[in-house]
Amino acid sequence: MKLIAFLAATLMVLPAPQARKAKKPAKPPVTPPAVQQQVVSVETENTSLILLIDGKGQVYTRHYGARIGQPGLYLEEALGEEDYNTCDGLAYPATGGRFVGEPALQVKYADGTHNTELYFTGVSSEERGGCSVTTLSLKDYVTELSVKLVFEAYLQEDIIVEHTEILNGGKQPLELLNYASSSLYVQADDYLLTHFWGAWAADMQMEHELLGHDLKVIESRRGTQATQGNNPSFLLSLGTREFSETAGEVIAGALAWSGNFRLSFERDNGGRLNILAGISPFASAYPLAAGASFTTPDMIYTWSGEGAGKASRNLHRWARKYSVYDGGEVNPTLLNSWEGAYFNFTTETLLRMMDDAAGMGLEMFVLDDGWFGNKFPRNGDNAGLGDWEVNTSKLPEGIDFLASYAHSKGLKFGIWIEPEMVNPRSELARNHPEWVVQSHGREVYQGRNQWVLDLSNPAVEDFVFGIFDRTMQLAPGIDYIKWDCNRVIQSFGSTYLGAQQDRFFVEYCQGLYNVMRRIREKYPRVLVQCCSSGGGRVDYGSLRYCNEIWTSDNTDARSRAFIQYGTSLIYPACVMGSHVSTVPNHQTGNVTPLKFRFDMACAGRLGMELQPKNLSADERALADRCIRSYKQYRDLVFTGDLYRLASPYDGKYYGLMYVSEDKSRAVVFTYCLDYEPRNVGGKTFRLQGLDPSRTYRVTEQNVDKSCWWGNGKRFTGDFLMGGAFNPRLPQIYSSAVFVLEAE
Ligand code: GLA
Repeated sequence: MKLIAFLAATLMVLPAPQARKAKKPAKPPVTPPAVQQQVVSVETENTSLILLIDGKGQVYTRHYGARIGQPGLYLEEALGEEDYNTCDGLAYPATGGRFVGEPALQVKYADGTHNTELYFTGVSSEERGGCSVTTLSLKDYVTELSVKLVFEAYLQEDIIVEHTEILNGGKQPLELLNYASSSLYVQADDYLLTHFWGAWAADMQMEHELLGHDLKVIESRRGTQATQGNNPSFLLSLGTREFSETAGEVIAGALAWSGNFRLSFERDNGGRLNILAGISPFASAYPLAAGASFTTPDMIYTWSGEGAGKASRNLHRWARKYSVYDGGEVNPTLLNSWEGAYFNFTTETLLRMMDDAAGMGLEMFVLDDGWFGNKFPRNGDNAGLGDWEVNTSKLPEGIDFLASYAHSKGLKFGIWIEPEMVNPRSELARNHPEWVVQSHGREVYQGRNQWVLDLSNPAVEDFVFGIFDRTMQLAPGIDYIKWDCNRVIQSFGSTYLGAQQDRFFVEYCQGLYNVMRRIREKYPRVLVQCCSSGGGRVDYGSLRYCNEIWTSDNTDARSRAFIQYGTSLIYPACVMGSHVSTVPNHQTGNVTPLKFRFDMACAGRLGMELQPKNLSADERALADRCIRSYKQYRDLVFTGDLYRLASPYDGKYYGLMYVSEDKSRAVVFTYCLDYEPRNVGGKTFRLQGLDPSRTYRVTEQNVDKSCWWGNGKRFTGDFLMGGAFNPRLPQIYSSAVFVLEAE
């Protein structure tokens, strides 16, 4: 689209007094000059975000949704009378002027005033491989505060990513009280919000809520483990009261930030909804010195006209290509030592686990917690964190020995660290008490017997980087690091930040990213799992540096149906670590068949987390078989398009499938989560995403006798999508996996 030229110079030369002193008579008020109206359209293949600049230079969001062929037609729209509050719909509403809603930006200036009114000063655009970047510049017409709204449009994936750059161009410091990454106004008759709450071992639980006229806020104030309560993501179904996988308009959003966040949804009395997303302003009035600027994290948006399924697929495709570290690459299957050994192991225990892992066809062994600490050995969760030397009495042969044994068995080797934390019972806590997050003169509370290290302090950043770096040196060829973070921040504060405690939460997260950036510069190939008591740090900020997440500490396959379903709405399966553990399950006490556990874990990155020697011969044979078959189709899990076929929330079944981009192959997962009386005819799943005219051969995996009458036969895509696929899943925890191959 051609942008209409704009007389930027006119605005640039406006006088801009910095501070209005009470005693002097006020300068005559300045008014923003008139500008030519214009439309800016940020476009992807199927979507448009349309911004309208009115004659006063105010920038409004007029449309986010299906692509509009002639965006210039928005110039025809009258924007209301001069006396009327014309601020509803501003693209980045600031506290001040006529705007009285929830602000994207609230600034407190040195003179104590809070008024900011942003006016357009220019627009530019550039292409960056697969992505076009549009930058709108705005400036307050009195102070020297300016804001850039930066929109990255990923054409093929229908993703628009927005962030904001706020510059204090004045001579006095100021404080940012609110500094959202984005504000998005949308208009519909109904707004059905889908979002994710959670708790330990109950991550990414889905909740639907019809929005009223009040303010809905989803926030985290936890500092670390920011996503274990709520996830910084949502889906919004427009003009409907029902959630649909396949029909209707859905906007999905996710904030790329691993610290405190805030998403708010404010419906004005005209029915319009403003979605604000960004860092939580909680205890974070961020100081901006004269000349300093602040860049907000990215807010990722997609729009689908075909229900939630398409919105998720857009996010997944974009994430694999542009966001997740090495996204879409197949990560190895593994045996993790945690639930099989906890803290109780010797070198011998680990070697035998490796033998079994290799024997079952797994590809990596991960040594979890418990390998370090000498003066304060890590034999439980009450000591040792911070002292990252190998425990020489427990593992006298060292990590090098273990890693080379794994390698000799053809296994990769991974190891666990929790570098942001310290047990009071550790040498580190004694040597560097000033590094602990604390509020002067107050009790430093423990969580899981540990304290948090203050990553807003550059010395702590160096230390945390050093832990990772030294762990990598423990053996040549450490292939995988599981980075854990097992508590939230409470009674927060930093000895380093002095009187600037307001910076703490923001700079903790920036400190974490600084460390991760350094790690990736030095170790581009090591696999990193982002764990935080399970899914406590599941966001697109951490995934820039991490290959995968530990989806949940809950390994019960039934609970996993809900957790993995919820996770899949926003995050791609390639990041979803999913392990087969023992029964009764250690978290829930639930007992499920081994096949059901495998079929659930195989819908993500498959791993095992149990003591293999406790498996019976039959169980072991089934495990070998499931692992073998997974390796044949797992590229579909890592790179295919996800279609959710049945929701665990809707009834008794859960179903999903992954389809290759060229639609030549697919894998279908089906599960019964409850007993269904008289289920003689089987459960119908309408497959999706296949080529209707192609013929697919359907093969059930890992069984001698199939639960579907069509097993081994050939069917057209339209037949399979039309309701003829009805495997028998007659009992609670019956499950079946089918591979489809086009001929
Ligand atoms: C956390 C993780 C687990 C395990 C333990 C070890 O709870 O989520 O997977 O690593 O820590 O202490």
